[in-house]
Amino acid sequence: AHDAADMLGAIYKLPEQMELALDLMKRTAVSLDRSRVKTILITGLGGSAVGGDLLRTYVGDTCPVPILVNRGYTMPSYVGDDTWVIAISYSGNTEETLSAYEEAKARGAQLTAITSGGELAERARRDGVPLVSVPSGLQPRAAVGHLFVPLLSLVQKSGLVAERVEEMEETLQLLRDMRDELAPTAQTAHNLAKQIALRLHGKIPLIHSSTGLTEAIAYRWKTQINENAQTLAFAHSYPELNHNEIVGFDVPSELIERVEVIALSSTFDHPRVQKRISITMSEVLADARCGRSQLAARGESALAQMFSLLLIGDYASAYLAVLYGLDPTPVVKIEQLKKRLA
Ligand code: PA5
Repeated sequence: AHDAADMLGAIYKLPEQMELALDLMKRTAVSLDRSRVKTILITGLGGSAVGGDLLRTYVGDTCPVPILVNRGYTMPSYVGDDTWVIAISYSGNTEETLSAYEEAKARGAQLTAITSGGELAERARRDGVPLVSVPSGLQPRAAVGHLFVPLLSLVQKSGLVAERVEEMEETLQLLRDMRDELAPTAQTAHNLAKQIALRLHGKIPLIHSSTGLTEAIAYRWKTQINENAQTLAFAHSYPELNHNEIVGFDVPSELIERVEVIALSSTFDHPRVQKRISITMSEVLADARCGRSQLAARGESALAQMFSLLLIGDYASAYLAVLYGLDPTPVVKIEQLKKRLA
């Protein structure tokens, strides 16, 4: 457990991270020609890109222009001077994000950078690109509060979406209430995240979601289990999975026995999706030899519901690392790959 202390400590501090970021953003102005913005494109990878997914999920429906997330070296063909490209890299040194940044600049896109330093900070300063500097010293995936809140705040300050102060307050309060139930000091009998980690131990996690509010969170669970617990995990969403994945639960039975399904659900899910989740879990998969359970989001607002599930998943992935005897913080494989690519 000692090895896991850094990651578990960072997860515990998520509400403080978000508060710090809110404070930072109070002192940050947005310089943008809003009337020219036809698309918002967030470009980043891994733990940095997740902020974009959360933003798109939370305000995508009310924003008058599409919010898209780009995870790659290049810019889609539509990117031009009517695109607001927000390049986000916690380290500031992710080559794909730097390449995308250069391409966005060459296309005349309106740019903003969010980073804790590195090459991205240097290039933004050099190019006179508005820069949000977030605190350094964490793993990017453990800095989700530092990365998501500035994104949300930038889009709110631009006037494209309204500020929803009460929803943020509800979310922070819920996270503070939940974290003591999920923290290492809470015994397994009362600790949902530890119970989930035990269910996932020795299994292949399949995280199910709806195309609406929970999809980005299920993907976050997958990537957190990958990076923190160094374990394979997969995510898929309703209603699409009702048209393919459910057919795959029959054979071979030895494989299915190694699968553990966790279906994330939210009161914001489409009513037909809620019905689909319930019928799939209780009837369609009734004879499947996998483990399965449903996990409902807590809280009232969409923001609170998203973050309640995110917090449970972050904790569960770190506890799963502990069960495998691993330190959830280093990502040795990713570092080795970067050296090979150098
Ligand atoms: O969370 C992690 O550690 C990774 O997924 C990183 O986010 C990813 O490698 C990209 O790095 P960065 O977020 O610094 O751009």
